[in-house]
Amino acid sequence: MLLLGDVFPNFTADTTAGQLNLHDYLGTSWGILFSHPSDFTPVCTTELARVLALLPEFNKRNTKVIGLSCDSISSHVEWCKDIQSYAGCNEDEKFPYPIIEDKNREIASKLCMVDKDELDTTGMPLTARAVFIIDPTKKFRLSFLYPATTGRNFDEILRVLDSLQLTDKAKVATPVDWKVGDDCMVLPTVPEDMIPKVFPQGITVVPLPSGKNYLRKTTCPKV
Ligand code: BEZ
Repeated sequence: MLLLGDVFPNFTADTTAGQLNLHDYLGTSWGILFSHPSDFTPVCTTELARVLALLPEFNKRNTKVIGLSCDSISSHVEWCKDIQSYAGCNEDEKFPYPIIEDKNREIASKLCMVDKDELDTTGMPLTARAVFIIDPTKKFRLSFLYPATTGRNFDEILRVLDSLQLTDKAKVATPVDWKVGDDCMVLPTVPEDMIPKVFPQGITVVPLPSGKNYLRKTTCPKV
């Protein structure tokens, strides 16, 4: 079982951009590996088109994206034109991020991405809508797993990426529904006597019935 903090399993795979070794491909970037059930399906098409539109946002965050489904590369390549068309892009341009083929479910099985309730025409399970975020040291940092019938929210993927990148640099955690610029929570591990040094901008302690001063807010650090 893959745990947060583990080195993300490396693999070599055939993709629409040629053969790719995951760790080499990511280099010093963050990475998002996301799977989808099948090519030429409506929800998947909207998701991959959304990723196309968000590429400048992923680039700003030094993040490479890689798609994956069980279909063949020739199917992916043909489908890419539909995705580009749906996204309002030029379908004759090179598709800008790789999509892995995983016909024998080798990667999908290793990463527990298969959905036993979604089968292809031969009865083989398809991939669910998984998302894995990998940091530049190749550590596995976050995952989502959605069923085929529920498209993902890619704004949420950017949001968690922002949170991961911020909390790697500042001694804060990001609260419910946080977005960049919102107040953050001081990490419980920061002792009171360190507050002036770590948070020169100051903090606010929210009074609670328990009388315990654990809910400490600070402005969003600029990192
Ligand atoms: C879709 O992408 O629309 C989809 C794929 C598989 C099952 C259900 C929906």
